[in-house]
Amino acid sequence: MNHKHLLGIKTLEAEEILTILDQAVQFKEIINRPIKKVPSLRDITIANLFFENSTRTKLSFELAQKRLSADVLNFSASNSSVKKGETLLDTVHNILSMKVDMVVIRHSSPGVPIFLSKHIDASIINAGDGTHEHPTQALLDAFSIREKFNSFKGLNVAIIGDIIHSRVALSNIFCLTKLGANVRLCGPPTLIPKGIEALGVSVSYDVKSTLEWANVANVLRIQMERADAPYFPSLNEYAKHFGINKEMLDTFGKDTVIMHPGPINRGVEISTDVADSDQSIILDQVENGVAVRMAVTFLLAQNRSAV
Ligand code: CP
Repeated sequence: MNHKHLLGIKTLEAEEILTILDQAVQFKEIINRPIKKVPSLRDITIANLFFENSTRTKLSFELAQKRLSADVLNFSASNSSVKKGETLLDTVHNILSMKVDMVVIRHSSPGVPIFLSKHIDASIINAGDGTHEHPTQALLDAFSIREKFNSFKGLNVAIIGDIIHSRVALSNIFCLTKLGANVRLCGPPTLIPKGIEALGVSVSYDVKSTLEWANVANVLRIQMERADAPYFPSLNEYAKHFGINKEMLDTFGKDTVIMHPGPINRGVEISTDVADSDQSIILDQVENGVAVRMAVTFLLAQNRSAV
């Protein structure tokens, strides 16, 4: 993996994605040992800059960095001097002056990690930028799929829900198509961008036939916080037509693997009996996130020391 930053999946080659996944296999084995910590990043300082809310990504990055013995700084915009009017660039320059080597950043504006990469020397990892990309989520999703199926070639992966506002969807599309999977997007027409087939995916507005086709269904929540207009009549209406429930899955008599990046809105895009079923690998995704983020951080740090 020959990059200084991880800004998105779009700029990665399939071989680089597989290198990250292979490295994550090694780290997953390590973090399941009684002694979970390795000294790999003992001299590296990493700042986690979260300008938008997070549970999984923030904790997962922090744990990954601590497992690698890095020094970790955590910053949340909500209780920082951003509230007093400090700009993004001033905030980042001030944090970097404390001799920080890597920055993990989440921001509600698409392109912030790319913007920062042009202004600072530290390596940057995109932890989700608005509706643009969420590369480590796509990598942990791919890792979790490979654990189940060993290979991506010819695998049918459905991404169901609010595609238009989803950075998870875009990063998954780039990742899975590069790895050889067949990707189908499903949701109401208002939540699927026009012309997205140009990215090598198919589109369906029918959730039942999509589930029948899929080996894997990655279910996404409705991102009310990003919706600037009503995209469907009501959440009840959405749940009725696009929500995944056990009764529906059971009609196909196949063990479609169910994924969800979280946070879940139970009873809207997915029912509790599906989210908590044996078909669901939602908590495996969270577990795998630590190993995948260790791999990304480790590989980028290696590139820094090689410069
Ligand atoms: N999947 C994900 O990004 O979750 P968080 O928003 O909790 O980090």
